[in-house]
Amino acid sequence: MKIVVIGGSGLIGSKVVNRLRARGHEVIAASPASGINTITGEGLDAALVGTQVVLDVANSPSFEDKAVFDFFQTSGRNLLAAEAKAGVKHHVALSVVGTARLTESGYFRAKIEQERLIRESKMPYTIVHSTQFFEFLGSIAQSGAEGDTVHLSPAFVQPIASDDVAAAVADYTLGSPLNAVVEIAGPERVRLSELVQRFLKASSDSRTVVPDVHARYFGAELKDDTLVPGANPRIGALDFDAWFALPKAPR
Ligand SMILES: NC(=O)c1ccc[n+]([C@@H]2O[C@H](COP(=O)([O-])OP(=O)(O)OC[C@H]3O[C@@H](n4cnc5c(N)ncnc54)[C@H](OP(=O)(O)O)[C@@H]3O)[C@@H](O)[C@H]2O)c1
Repeated sequence: MKIVVIGGSGLIGSKVVNRLRARGHEVIAASPASGINTITGEGLDAALVGTQVVLDVANSPSFEDKAVFDFFQTSGRNLLAAEAKAGVKHHVALSVVGTARLTESGYFRAKIEQERLIRESKMPYTIVHSTQFFEFLGSIAQSGAEGDTVHLSPAFVQPIASDDVAAAVADYTLGSPLNAVVEIAGPERVRLSELVQRFLKASSDSRTVVPDVHARYFGAELKDDTLVPGANPRIGALDFDAWFALPKAPR
């Protein structure tokens, strides 16, 4: 089967591309660097010729409110139009658990728009909602950093390793369109502030995490259950300790 992975050079994209190729599929790893750009449309029609499934794991180069909204809106419109023209049979996209609950956040308003365009298109789809990647913990810590302290919400999270995300996304890409959202998460539910403290300590970073219920996550205040999945998510194999022990876990 021919599959195009939009964002195929990214953290998740590169891992999914490897998994799909190992399962015998013809995979194009699409990104601006490879001459395929969903914003300008460059290379898109040519890449989609004969393609059955498109997996969208691209991300915006800028997280500024307007820039990120424009990115997901323009990219989504161009991609879905090109897919319809090429006769693509299944559009799979990666989004975030709790997206619809995060309307205070510019980034998540952009993800809501990305999902709306998919739902309102005629393209059969599967939207995979993942919790936060363990690889993202360093950026989360930086987002709350103030000198020697890090201010973060104590809301619950259930993070997942990027390898487990890639495995799940590869399976959904090879499955039938569900025309629904499916959720994936890690095996442990923990408080964000406590997990980041554990991460900093394991990384020999002496900063202290200060739990603050008003600390914003991508611009939004969190309730205890904002970022956690509902009933029956697919659960990844790696917990924090197993992920941190991996030789290549980014710090
Ligand atoms: N971080 C988290 O915890 C988390 C949790 C759940 C879901 N997600 C979602 O997971 C998805 C993937 O995240 P990631 O961390 O793997 O992303 P990433 O590593 O930042 O990779 C982004 C990819 O998008 C590509 N891209 C950028 N602009 C493009 C364009 N105009 N046309 C085509 N491709 C373009 C990049 O190509 P270049 O390399 O050429 O720039 C790169 O391959 C995102 O949609 C994000 O919302 C993230």
